[in-house]
Amino acid sequence: MSKQLPSKDIVWHQSTITRQHREALNNHRSVILWFTGLSGAGKSTLAHATEERLSRMGCRTFVLDGDNVRHGLCADLGFSDQDRMENIRRVGELAKLFIEAGVIVLTAFISPFQADRTRMRSLVNEDDFLEIYCDCSLEVCEKRDVKGFYRRARLGKIKNFTGLSSSYESPVNPELRINTGELSLSASVDQVMELLKAHGII
Ligand code: ADX
Repeated sequence: MSKQLPSKDIVWHQSTITRQHREALNNHRSVILWFTGLSGAGKSTLAHATEERLSRMGCRTFVLDGDNVRHGLCADLGFSDQDRMENIRRVGELAKLFIEAGVIVLTAFISPFQADRTRMRSLVNEDDFLEIYCDCSLEVCEKRDVKGFYRRARLGKIKNFTGLSSSYESPVNPELRINTGELSLSASVDQVMELLKAHGII
């Protein structure tokens, strides 16, 4: 998708309250934790459990979750490659605003294409984007089939289903890879917390 340039009739308004000011109030840096993986890999579960841990420490957080965002902001989008690209573009821009708001934003989207994830990374500073690959095999995700979508997709009732009739490109160089097929939820959260500490976020 070509980058839309803003009209020359639109001028950026600089906020007097800066990101640094908000981060100082919050007592922690803001960052995007970008969870990616197959449907059923545990992205949302891990993002919410991490948020709970952070919230108990007094951090300002927000989870952007694929299923929820698709009820509103992205309700007009389906699952073609083009629509997924647009879904991720909107979420990336939204997450970028949360960074400015001083918040630790946790995004849980399949985000199957490497090019889209790379584009989202490039929207923000290098240390503002931490990619977390929820690495769970298709076999395990399909066996879990929490929402019954894999079964329906196998029956041809859901088109373009990730892992079956639409591709998933594994991250090339994520900041963290978690084997969510085997590791417990609490041990997985521990790993994310270590990542945040290592990057000086908390
Ligand atoms: S993404 O590919 O554009 O990043 P997103 O994370 O927003 O996807 O939405 C994925 C969720 O939508 C899945 O967890 C699943 O519940 C639901 N879903 C419905 N249809 C599909 C499909 N064809 N492929 C993948 N997920 C689907």
